[in-house]
Amino acid sequence: METVKMKPAPSGEAVGDGIPASGGKARLPEKKIIEVENLRRDFYVGDEIVHALRGISFDIREGEFVTIMGSSGSGKSTLLNILGCLDTPSSGEYRLDGIPVRSMDKNRRAEIRNRKIGFVFQSYNLLPKTTALENVELPLLYNPAVGTEERRKRSLEALQKVGLADRVQHRSNQMSGGQQQRVAIARALVNDPVLILADEATGNLDTRTSYEILSLFQELHRAGRTIVFVTHNPELARFSSRNIVLRDGHVIQDSPNRDLRSAKDALLALPKDED
Ligand SMILES: Nc1ncnc2c1ncn2[C@@H]1O[C@H](COP(=O)(O)OP(=O)(O)OP(=O)(O)O)[C@@H](O)[C@H]1O
Ligand SMILES: [Mg+2]
Repeated sequence: METVKMKPAPSGEAVGDGIPASGGKARLPEKKIIEVENLRRDFYVGDEIVHALRGISFDIREGEFVTIMGSSGSGKSTLLNILGCLDTPSSGEYRLDGIPVRSMDKNRRAEIRNRKIGFVFQSYNLLPKTTALENVELPLLYNPAVGTEERRKRSLEALQKVGLADRVQHRSNQMSGGQQQRVAIARALVNDPVLILADEATGNLDTRTSYEILSLFQELHRAGRTIVFVTHNPELARFSSRNIVLRDGHVIQDSPNRDLRSAKDALLALPKDED
């Protein structure tokens, strides 16, 4: 897929695919998109308390492609939902693009979610029996600054970027899983978000289609997007620039990936009879 348009990297600097080792700050863009400090999230179920997050701290800078890994129940989705302003922590601080999320009311959080964040889920979450174009247009319906024509134009562009220019009138049930996920990615991109959050985005897809979707995420990363990609599959961490590993609600590892793999190469290396 060569279809993603290149956007200049933040601060006019090549972001690159790897981030340097600690101490080699020179190539890092300085702006922090995400800052979390001692984040905790407790759930109350009957008389039980589930400590889903037990004090999480890290920063994510503009242009990073971060994989969050960990086994089932380690807190990945809980963390991603908080980063996406879909949920609020029990305690701790979260600053998104420099603004403390705690200080925002519900409407402001909804607005931030719609304007600054693009979500991609395992189950695509497309509207059923609705065309690709209408699905992608959806986030723009809540944006009064964008009129009908502009909405259509931007949605068509987003679908083109994900290689679906020839499927815009197809309904959700008339597309393959990989195509539906690409519609979901186009929908995540259409508002030009500062941050793309993906939760097991390739979880329902076969190996070949997973690599295609990963290759699309890598193109978006090269174009300067900040991406947080949750997966329980350690294999997928090889395609991002930094890996954070959770266990029982703690960060147990946070390291740059020095051996970044190209999803496109992985795709080409697959045996022909794989699918
Ligand atoms: N709404 C909720 N109410 C109660 N407990 C919850 C809720 N959401 C998550 N939990 C609990 O919090 C812990 C972390 O769950 P979470 O969904 O974040 O895990 P995960 O790492 O995303 O797992 P998976 O890989 O299976 O998706 C689990 O023990 C889970 O049972
Ligand atoms: Mg999960």
